[in-house]
Amino acid sequence: IAQPVPVVAIDGPSASGKGTVAALVAEALGFAHLDSGALYRIVALSAMRKGVALEDEPAVAALAAGLPARFEGGRVLLDGDDVTDEIRSETCSVGASRVAVLPQVRDALFWRQRAYRSGAGVVAEGRDMGSVVFPDAELKIFLTASVEARAERRYKQLIGKGMAASMIDLLKDLHERDARDSQRAVAPLKQCEDAALLDTSELTVQQAVDFVVERAAGLRK
Ligand code: DC
Repeated sequence: IAQPVPVVAIDGPSASGKGTVAALVAEALGFAHLDSGALYRIVALSAMRKGVALEDEPAVAALAAGLPARFEGGRVLLDGDDVTDEIRSETCSVGASRVAVLPQVRDALFWRQRAYRSGAGVVAEGRDMGSVVFPDAELKIFLTASVEARAERRYKQLIGKGMAASMIDLLKDLHERDARDSQRAVAPLKQCEDAALLDTSELTVQQAVDFVVERAAGLRK
């Protein structure tokens, strides 16, 4: 019997650093990287560009089902247009968390996410990778950090880019997004029973990457 393509599922809240960790783990293992949050962000951007209301579930789901998006060499393309930076904006962050509550949108993205399970393996990152999309993942990690640590990292990131930032606003925003992501009816953010907890509040990026890579060591062919 052929061995299944191994999946490392990394779930966790906004700004926990799971994107950075997932990318580095994928590189270390030679696996593909699925940034599922980017898909929700692209759906929100696409809806806003087309003037589709973010609450219009059937219309947003139709956009999600036929999303003309590609990931190429670290860039994100929508209809051939480079939207890598735009999908990280505050507007798209909020928009993504709004379209992510719609069950039809989540269904529309389900198979697209499953299709990443090919080749040597995949590191899939998001909110419901271990619970819904890859419940049979070989390794599940719940990657989190205190809300203060997350706000502080985001603050430094913004200031580093020469952008304005307020700790109070960032904390408020993270609390709101955490609540929306963990209290929604469909596929809420939660730690799976079979997921290893990785709290990165006091860890460096490298320490977090090592934690995952050590546990994934047996999965490489
Ligand atoms: O991980 P992120 O911040 O890029 O995610 C953007 C939004 O998409 C976030 O509000 C939660 C949602 N999301 C989700 O519902 N399920 C996923 N698997 C990934 C992201």
